[in-house]
Order: sequence, then structure tokens, then C-alpha cells
Amino acid sequence: MGSHAQTLPLDPLPDAIATLCDEVEESLESGLLPARVFNDPEVHRLELERLFARSWVYIGHESEIPAPGDYVLRYVAEDPFIFVRDEAGEVRLLFDACRHRGTQICRADKGNTSHFRCPYHGWTYANNGDLVGMPAAREVYGGLDRSQWGLIQAPKLERLHGLYFACLDESAPPLDEFLGDMKYYLDMSFGYVGDLEVVGDPHRWILGGNWKTTAENSMADDYHVTFLHRSMVQLGLLPDGGDYFKACHHISPGNGHGVSFEFSGPDARVNFGYPDDVAAAFGRNGLDPQQADLARRCHGGGANVFPNLAILFLQLSPTLGDDAPTAFTSLRLWQPHGPDKIEMWNWVLVPKGSSDEFKQQSYRAAMATFSPGGVFEQDDSIAWRSITRTAGTTFARRIGFQFNYQMGDQVGAVETVADWPGPGHVTSHAYEETLHRMLYRRWLDFMRNEDYPPSWTDPRVVVREH
Ligand code: FES
Ligand SMILES: [Fe+2]
Repeated sequence: MGSHAQTLPLDPLPDAIATLCDEVEESLESGLLPARVFNDPEVHRLELERLFARSWVYIGHESEIPAPGDYVLRYVAEDPFIFVRDEAGEVRLLFDACRHRGTQICRADKGNTSHFRCPYHGWTYANNGDLVGMPAAREVYGGLDRSQWGLIQAPKLERLHGLYFACLDESAPPLDEFLGDMKYYLDMSFGYVGDLEVVGDPHRWILGGNWKTTAENSMADDYHVTFLHRSMVQLGLLPDGGDYFKACHHISPGNGHGVSFEFSGPDARVNFGYPDDVAAAFGRNGLDPQQADLARRCHGGGANVFPNLAILFLQLSPTLGDDAPTAFTSLRLWQPHGPDKIEMWNWVLVPKGSSDEFKQQSYRAAMATFSPGGVFEQDDSIAWRSITRTAGTTFARRIGFQFNYQMGDQVGAVETVADWPGPGHVTSHAYEETLHRMLYRRWLDFMRNEDYPPSWTDPRVVVREH
């Protein structure tokens, strides 16, 4: 079924980047980060090779390819792959490159087909990746062993609550281990909400900016919310400044992942903001009682699965004020396109069993706020482009400009919530930058280590059984 290939060892880290990594490590100790990591062609090239080609990354949702033959074109950073359900119903991820001379065989973003035929010389592959035909095969290839020349499969592909993740490194640990304690929170949210389906196609657009600026923002940058999005406060869509820093818990589960979710008191029934008739279908789905309890009182918020998958569970008005806030769920991938560009991928998901009316309202809420034309997105993208631009200036490089990630340290904001029922280092203060620092610590692991970086929990955490 398709072919497998072995990955080659990494080249040694160039001296200049090894020095930069040492600087990053030292800076992080005091909550600083060299600006250069946000806009440098060599850093970008090495991120593709050392980070994106070794990390588990998000590919797509099972509802995007429900029937045999359904496929969508996806990317691991900048590399194209066909995410396809084969004739036997098995989901595969095939490198979109003909084994004859490498021509891209799939040109459409999505479709349904039993076979892919290369446009150059016509080698033809079944949708499980097998090579099944070549023009004039008997005359020109004789007994060539076709079983050795199928499309190359991504080394690893795993499913979690309908979400598919892939990894291009055979030596990587299973997805569970890569996620570590983040899995507890993915189970708590996606497991609890249950079957979701993607509405329509993902929205895609190009943003100026480095992918790390967006990953850190969606994971835990609550500090900007009532300031950059001031117009949303004025419209009444967000509460006014004041105590906003108390609105979220920051959860650091380790391995560079992060969660910024809000939880109400023990008896609350919040269900990620979904209305009672929709939430009636939510359930334990294999969760332990504490997880289900946390989910019931969770309002949602933002999270980031390292490196570049953002998750939003939010409630906002689809009409920016007239209609009541409506819950929506969104997955967003910050795909690097060079050091200073991102291709943004945005999926809206709705509970499968909810009414058409609710699905439409939920989709409208997502589109009005977090989409190419969304009012929040417009504000954010200006800041991300600007940070990246600053990082790429000659002057910033000449003075060794460093960005500040020290927030919260001086005021005890990073103290762990003592009675938290789940894993991870958890604060009840949303204005702090521990999670950001953990993201860059994991970034450093991937950039520096030739062997697969070992897993870790937030170093402040006393590891607990759960
Ligand atoms: S490159 Fe695909 S058949 Fe030749
Ligand atoms: Fe924002």
C-alpha cells in the first residue's frame, strides 16, 4: 500500500545558528528572546528541516474525507501531501510526488477519485498509493517491480477525536507521547463535545508575519485582547479592561503546548458556551469524572498544540452585537511560507448532531470574528506583520534586539493553582508569559537536538499521577 522511505540523518547545525540557540537558551532564563528568531532565512530553513519535518503536525479532520476516494491536498509546512480515504476506507497521507520524476500528481485542492494519474508521462496510482499502471509498461519497463514504486506514505499518521496528525520522522514517539499532558485537555474538550464536522472548506489566506508570532498569540496572549481589540470593547463584544486578567486559566502541560481556557465554579454548567439543547448530547466519552467535570464548567478560550495548531472554543455575536453570543469551534493552522509569511488555514467545526439553524448561526459567529474578514483577525494581523518586520531590520540585528517575555514573574502571577484537578502548571491569572517561554523552550529542543527531543512537563510542576 504505497511505499515507505527511510529518513536520512540531519546535517549538523551551522555554527551561527548553534550560537543563536545558545543565546536563546540564555535569554529565556531571564524571560527574553532574541528578535532574530522571528525573521531569518536560515532559521526558517532549519525550522522546516528540524522542527516541521520531525514534529507531529495537524493535517485535517475526518469529516473532510467521509467517503472512499475523497481527498484533500494538505501541507506539512511547505511540502504537499494527499490526505485521502482509499477504496477500503483507510485514511492515508501520500507524498504528492510521482515516483518517476517527481511531478506533482494531484493538482486539485479536493475531490473524489479512485486513481491519481501523473500529468507528465502518465504513471497511474490507486488511491491507496499503489502504482498500478505506466504507459507502454511491458515494452519499456519489462518486469519492473511496481510494488516498490508506489507513492510514498508519510511515516506516521494518527487520529485523535476525528483530528488527524502526521509526522515525517520515523523515530518520533507516538502522538500520545508527543502531546503528553496536552492530551488530557484535548480529551477534555474534543472528547467531551463529541462528534464534530467541518463546515464547508477551510479558509486560506496569506498573512505577513512569522508563524511563531501567531502561535504564541493564539495560545496565551490574553494581554492584548482588551487593548488591540479595543474597538470590540467599545462595541460591547468584550468586557472592559479591569479584571480581564482574571478571566482565564493558563495551563502549561509541557512539551511547548499551551491552553488558555476559562472555568467557572464547581457547580456551573457552561459546556464551552454551547446552548443546553446542543450540549445535551455532550458526554463522558471515556473521560474520567474529573475531566468531565472540568469540561462541564469550561467556557473555552484559545490553545496551541505545538508547533502551529491553534484551537478556539469561543462565544461571540454573529452580528457583532445584535444577536446573542453563539458558541463556535475553530481550528487554525499557521503554515510557514518563508520567514515572514504565513498561509493561514481556518476550519470551523460544529457539533454533528446540532440543528441546521444552530450550525449556520455558529458558522456566522466564526466568520464575523475569526476569518479572513473577521473583526478580530484584522487587528491581530497588523501586529504580527509589524513584529516580524522589526525582527528583520538591520538595526535590530546590529543591536541584538531582544523581546520581553517577563510578564507575571514579579507579581506572583505564575503561582500554581493548588487544588487543580488536572495535570500541568496552572495559573488563574491570564496576564503572564510562562506559556510563551515554554513554547520557545520546545522550539529550542527541536532546533538543537539531532536525536528526537525527549518529552518534558513544565519544569515547575511536581509530576502527578492521573
Ligand atoms: S514524472 Fe510522473 S510519469 Fe513521469
Ligand atoms: Fe487577537
